Amino acid sequence: MRVLQVCAEIFPLLKTGGLADVAGALPAALNAAGAETRVLLPGFDAVLAGLEQAVTVCELPPRAGVPGARLLYGALPAAQAHGYVLDAPELYRRPGGPYADAGNHAYGDNHLRFARLCWAAADLAAGADPYWRPAVVHAHDWHAGLAPACVRALGAPAVSVFTIHNLAYQGSFDARHYPELGLPPAWFDVQGVEFHGALNFMKAGLYFADQISTVSPTYAREIQQHEQGMGLDGLLRSRAGVLHGILNGVDSAVWDPAHDALIDAPFDARKLAGKARNKAALQATLGLAAVPDAPLFIVVSRLTEQKGLHLVQAAVPQIVARGGQFALLGNGDAGMEAAFRALASQWPESVAARIGYDERFAHRLVAGGDVIMVPSRFEPCGLTQLYGLRYGTLPLVRRVGGLADTVTDSSLESLDDGSATGFVFDAFSDAALDAALRRAFALYRRKKDWTAVQRTGMARRHDWAVAAEGYLNLYRAALGG
Ligand code: ADP
Ligand code: GLC
Repeated sequence: MRVLQVCAEIFPLLKTGGLADVAGALPAALNAAGAETRVLLPGFDAVLAGLEQAVTVCELPPRAGVPGARLLYGALPAAQAHGYVLDAPELYRRPGGPYADAGNHAYGDNHLRFARLCWAAADLAAGADPYWRPAVVHAHDWHAGLAPACVRALGAPAVSVFTIHNLAYQGSFDARHYPELGLPPAWFDVQGVEFHGALNFMKAGLYFADQISTVSPTYAREIQQHEQGMGLDGLLRSRAGVLHGILNGVDSAVWDPAHDALIDAPFDARKLAGKARNKAALQATLGLAAVPDAPLFIVVSRLTEQKGLHLVQAAVPQIVARGGQFALLGNGDAGMEAAFRALASQWPESVAARIGYDERFAHRLVAGGDVIMVPSRFEPCGLTQLYGLRYGTLPLVRRVGGLADTVTDSSLESLDDGSATGFVFDAFSDAALDAALRRAFALYRRKKDWTAVQRTGMARRHDWAVAAEGYLNLYRAALGG
C-alpha cells in the first residue's frame, strides 16, 4: 500500500513540537508494518539541507494565487525516510521559523505556503510522479488540512486520511483569500472549507477526509464535546463514525536510556544507578545543590496556555518548602519565561530555568529528573510523559487527553496491584496539583515503592509498531475494505 505522509515538520530536521517526533517516526514504522511510505514536505532550509540524492520530478503548475514549485524527490536519511520536497524559495526559504518570522509574527501568506503543500499532495495522487502514485494521502494538522479537498477537486484516484495533532491551531484565514486557493467556489460553504465566515484549513481536513484520527482515544472523545471542541465539535460528532484515536508511540531509536548518547550515563530498569549519575550531573550543570535525595521535578515544554504551567509556577514555592528541586527547559510566552527566571533567581540552589529550545538538554533533564510535570489544560497525546515513563522519571499529569490514557495514578490500590506509573490529578486547580505533589513527596520517601513504580513505567511499551497497525487499519477502512 503506497502512502504519502504530508506534514510541515519532521524530526530531526525541523521540529517545533511533538508533530515532528511523530512525522519522523511514523514512516519507518509504517514501512516495517508492510506499507510503502513517502513523505511530502515544504522546502524549508533545514529540510533541503537534509535531502540527499535529490532529483527533480517535475515542475508543479501554479493554481490561482498559489505559486508553482519544483517537486524534488530524494532520501532523508536523518529521518529514515524517502520523499518529496517542494522547492519554492519565495515561499519557504526565510530566516524565521516555519510558520512565523523571527519576531513570532505569522507570515502573511501562510494560506498560500500551505495550500502549495496540499496541492502538491493532490498532484502526486493524480500521477505527477509517473513512477510512484500514492493510494492514500495522509495529511497531518492544519498545514496539510486542504490536501483532502485538493485530492477531491482533482478527482485523483486516492483516498485521504487526516490526523489532528492539535485542534487549537486551525489555520484560519480571512474569506477574501479563498479565491487565491484555486478550489471550486462552491466549496466555500458550511459544507466545505468555510467556518464562521472564514476559511479554515483544519475544518477542510475534517470535512473532506475519508477517515479522521487524532493522537489518543480520550482526546478523540473530548473533541466531540463543547468544552474541548474548539467550535468544531458539531462537525466532529457528525463524523464520529470515521473518527479514531490512535496513541502516539516513543521512537526508541531516539528515546532509550540504555542507548542514549545525549545523556551523561546510560541506565535501564535493572540498573538504575546510572540514573543517579545523570541527576548529579544535572544538578552540577544547573548550579542546584548537590543533594541526591532532593526529589527533582522537571518540565520540558513549549510555554503556552495549553500546557497549564501557571499551576507549576504557583507550585514551585511548595516544592522548595518541602525540600525538593525544580528545573525547567522551555520557551514561548514571554511572561511565563520571565516568571520562571524570577523563581530561579529567588532560589538558585533549588530552582533552575533554561529558556530556549535544546534537544540535548531535553534528554539530560528527562534522564536526570525524578518527576516530569505535565499539568496541561488539554493534551491531544503528549510525548514528554511517555519519555518520562521510559526514563524512570515519574509523570505528574492532569487527567486529560493522552495524559489520561498513558499514566496511572499511584493510589494504595494501584501500588498494591503494581499498575501505578505516576501521579494524576483531575481539577485544573492549585489545590489538585498540590495534592498530587504531596503524593509524589510521600512516595519518594518510600524508596522501594518508588523504584517499583519506576520499573512499571519503564516496562510500559508505547511502540510505534502498535500505532502503525492502527493507521494501516484506518487506510484499509478508507480504501473501503
Ligand atoms: P507539543 O507537541 O504540544 O509541544 P508533545 O509533548 O507532544 O507536546 O511534544 C513536545 C516535544 O517537543 C517533545 O519531544 C519535547 O521533548 C520537545 N520539546 C518541547 N520543548 C522543548 C525545548 N524547550 N527544548 C527541547 N525540546 C523541547
Ligand atoms: C500536538 C499535541 C501533543 C501531541 C503532538 C504529537 O502538538 O499538542 O499533545 O503529542 O501534537 O501528536
